[in-house]
Amino acid sequence: MAKYRIAWMPGDGIGVDVMEAANIVLDHLALDADYIHADIGWEFWCKEGEALPQRTIDILKSCDCGLFGAITSKPKDEAEMELDASLKGKGYVYSSPIVRLRQLFDLYTNLRPCKAYQGNPLNYKECIDLVVFRENTEGLYSGIEFFPLPDELRSTITQYNPKMARFKDVPADEIAITLRVVTEKGARRIISKAFEYAQKFGYRTVTLVEKPNVLRETSGLMTRVAREISNEYPGIDLWETNIDAQMMWLLKNPENYGVMVTSNLFGDVLSDLAAQLVGGLGFAASGNIGDHFAVFEPTHGSAPKYAGQYKVNPNAMLIATKLMLEWLGEVEKAQVLDDAIQQVVVEGKVRTYDMGGTSTTIDIAQAVAEKI
Ligand code: NAI
Ligand code: MG
Repeated sequence: MAKYRIAWMPGDGIGVDVMEAANIVLDHLALDADYIHADIGWEFWCKEGEALPQRTIDILKSCDCGLFGAITSKPKDEAEMELDASLKGKGYVYSSPIVRLRQLFDLYTNLRPCKAYQGNPLNYKECIDLVVFRENTEGLYSGIEFFPLPDELRSTITQYNPKMARFKDVPADEIAITLRVVTEKGARRIISKAFEYAQKFGYRTVTLVEKPNVLRETSGLMTRVAREISNEYPGIDLWETNIDAQMMWLLKNPENYGVMVTSNLFGDVLSDLAAQLVGGLGFAASGNIGDHFAVFEPTHGSAPKYAGQYKVNPNAMLIATKLMLEWLGEVEKAQVLDDAIQQVVVEGKVRTYDMGGTSTTIDIAQAVAEKI
């Protein structure tokens, strides 16, 4: 039996192309693993009314972690239209499989490293090495929303917070509310992970990016917890910044920051900006990590117009693979892979279209494999 069992989920479109690249590289690394193919994505929505079939969930439960390419998702009316005729009108509702995976396995950390590989023509600046920790399960994306606003809820809120009285004359169907939920447990675990990572990989600062001067309760809770946890890490400085100002500073001095930690929505915004500083979608990878399970993926989607053409940049997928190796404890192999990616980027002989070249997805994978 191999040391690891890894769920292999190419998904749709270029997800398949880039997973082939990951396969080539993992073969060269000789990782002692079994890869278990698992169905996920649009095809299974259309054929079965479920983009994340139960058999895939069962496979995931039997694995150490998952590697995921990308999926296609489409708006409600198109989803209904493309559903197999035999399933239409039977109450099937599309839901994003990756969002479901995060919830099912409580993958509360969204880890997004954004490192400028030396010599990447897409770098905004050299020497950027940011790692964003985004809380993945709560905050403004908790999904607790109200529209139209129930009368009872409005009067209860007004009773507990007089500021609500200002909206008393707004008709129920002209007002919408989304709750920003932050729990102490949620704050503690994401901030702890950020500090642990900083310690393990030698970052000297953790920046908490919030807005406690306005969001006094939710960002306030994050700040309290961060200060408490930082006391356990005397060698690491806690910096506290506001999300709006942080956007400016990140453009001005991205090389000043190391690990950054924040809540769900802020993290969504922050990590996209950070990714663009170091090459955009061809280099952006993430880990969805819980206490016992994790799924690693490139940040990009299925890019249908490039599907099956082997044109896109597999580096995002290869960086996701590197994150998986790190998480499995295969730190040496992770480093070897990262060095190989770096060498191919700086040599500049094989480059996909986004980097100004004409090489294929597989060319890059083979070039990286040769450096291993
Ligand atoms: P996308 O990320 O698939 O592609 C947008 C554009 O970015 C592409 O047309 C291409 O020009 C470029 N691009 C993407 N990946 C690249 C790579 N590796 N190398 C070079 N260029 C790359 O986003 P889009 O077009 O908005 O969505 C397409 C489908 O993917 C939709 O169905 C969407 O719902 C889904 N999606 C899935 C995600 C996931 O699986 N995690 C994330 C984002 C979108
Ligand atoms: Mg996003």
